Amino acid sequence: MKISKICCIGAGYVGGPTMAVIAQKCPHIQVKVVDINQARIDAWNDSDLDRLPVYEPGLDKIVADARGKNLFFSTDVDQAIKEADMVFISVNTPTKTYGEGKGQAADLKWIEKCARQIAAASDSDKIVVEKSTLPVRTAEAVKDILDNTGNGHKFQILSNPEFLAEGTAVEDLLDPDRVLIGGDTSSPDGLEAIASLVDIYANWVSRDKILSTNVWSSELSKLTANAFLAQRVSSINSLSELCESTEADIHEVSRAIGKDSRIGPKFLQASVGFGGSCFQKDILNLVYISRSYGLTEVADYWEQVIKMNDHQKGRFAKKIIKSLYNTVSGKKIAFLGWAFKKDTNDTRESAAIYVADHLLNEGANVYVYDPKVSEEQMYGDIDYLNSRSKVDNRKLLQSEDDPYDVCKGAHAIAILTEWDEFKDYDWEVIYHSMQKPCQIFDGRNLLDKEKLEKIGFRVYSIGKS
Ligand code: NAD
Ligand code: UGA
Repeated sequence: MKISKICCIGAGYVGGPTMAVIAQKCPHIQVKVVDINQARIDAWNDSDLDRLPVYEPGLDKIVADARGKNLFFSTDVDQAIKEADMVFISVNTPTKTYGEGKGQAADLKWIEKCARQIAAASDSDKIVVEKSTLPVRTAEAVKDILDNTGNGHKFQILSNPEFLAEGTAVEDLLDPDRVLIGGDTSSPDGLEAIASLVDIYANWVSRDKILSTNVWSSELSKLTANAFLAQRVSSINSLSELCESTEADIHEVSRAIGKDSRIGPKFLQASVGFGGSCFQKDILNLVYISRSYGLTEVADYWEQVIKMNDHQKGRFAKKIIKSLYNTVSGKKIAFLGWAFKKDTNDTRESAAIYVADHLLNEGANVYVYDPKVSEEQMYGDIDYLNSRSKVDNRKLLQSEDDPYDVCKGAHAIAILTEWDEFKDYDWEVIYHSMQKPCQIFDGRNLLDKEKLEKIGFRVYSIGKS
């Protein structure tokens, strides 16, 4: 089947950038990205490209290139479904916050809603593509809904999980390590559906990088990839604590083990703990699935990756408190960074939120600077934890637009995100504006420790004694 019109439901961190790249690389295909969130769609349509809802280096140029030609953003979901030959589902699949599986299972209510809406709005056969990260065997439920609530049209379900990382989304989309397409490999219709999606990617990705599998392998590979990546971060973070007790240096250990080509150098950067919308939710999901199949040891094994991550965030906060003579009450603590990693405005599950919460519980005054995150977002994140009243959060947590103001008069600075600009600050000026002794807690091992110590700072780095 030759695809000429695509609809993508969900204009978020995945739907927006992915569809922008498909539109740019496939000028012969019309791409409509739809969402129920009017403000988000308005922001995607904003003529000021600085106001796009997702910040990703290079994304503005791609959107500018394709928008209005063959890339459109709209809230008219039904119309876009009706027109399309292929419908991508790229809605959020967060961890359930209620009922059976609360705290672990993926909440699939938005997926089900999409499936029902696709069935109701369709007046022709369609290929439905799961782009969201889903528990293994979700396609079964999607197919069941489509087949039983539709208007008698035929649907093929593909799984095409997205492997982009935020902050490098455009690079990852333009030059992916692989594209994974799962489908019904046992039927001619299934094979034809797979081939039509392969043809889209083949416009810019070499065919040997496009893998096709059965649907279940594809769904499970996505959860597995994230679990393996997060496991590496938790593994190196667990050793960072041991380094601090033994005078080994985590940077040297990472370099030494990463030289082994079987291990490799990537994803061995010790940190204050991994954040982001996916690692935690996807591992918890894997834990839940394993437990629901009665596989207790498998579930416990993966759950430990999360426990290690919680420990890493907690021990960073405790280190700050201990170094400030066991009391931070009424003291100004400066945070540099709030996003879960650099080059993104996304804060979901950011380590900064949990470290701040810990310090606020101790009565600290936390002042935050992040180049891309708004004050409103920070309050939203901290309020969401429900640890104290909104009024108290606004008394204790402040955001500032100037990093030098954030550091002025502070007892300590904590680096929570590895934004490059932090390296270039005039640390001499900052030193003279702070309370003494000046302490820096570098949760990303970003700054030049020796240089700062020469200025007079006391510097704590992860995994270094
Ligand atoms: P997001 O929250 O940024 O975007 C999801 C969008 O879907 C929201 O704008 C929401 O309004 C919209 N939506 C929800 N229900 C809808 C409906 N019924 N109709 C129309 N719109 C609807 O989420 P995201 O970060 O883009 O993630 C989407 C999926 O992709 C998740 O399953 C996630 O696990 C997966 N994923 C995310 C990343 C990432 O880096 N963020 C990477 C790979 C995979
Ligand atoms: C991750 C995966 O890398 C993507 O392949 C996947 O598509 C995505 O999840 C998803 O499914 O959502 P993302 O969460 O955007 O991407 O960002 P990462 O670069 O993986 O970083 C995740 C967290 O781990 C960040 O907080 C980062 O700072 C931390 N991290 C990463 C470390 O602490 N050390 C490292 O060495 C690498």
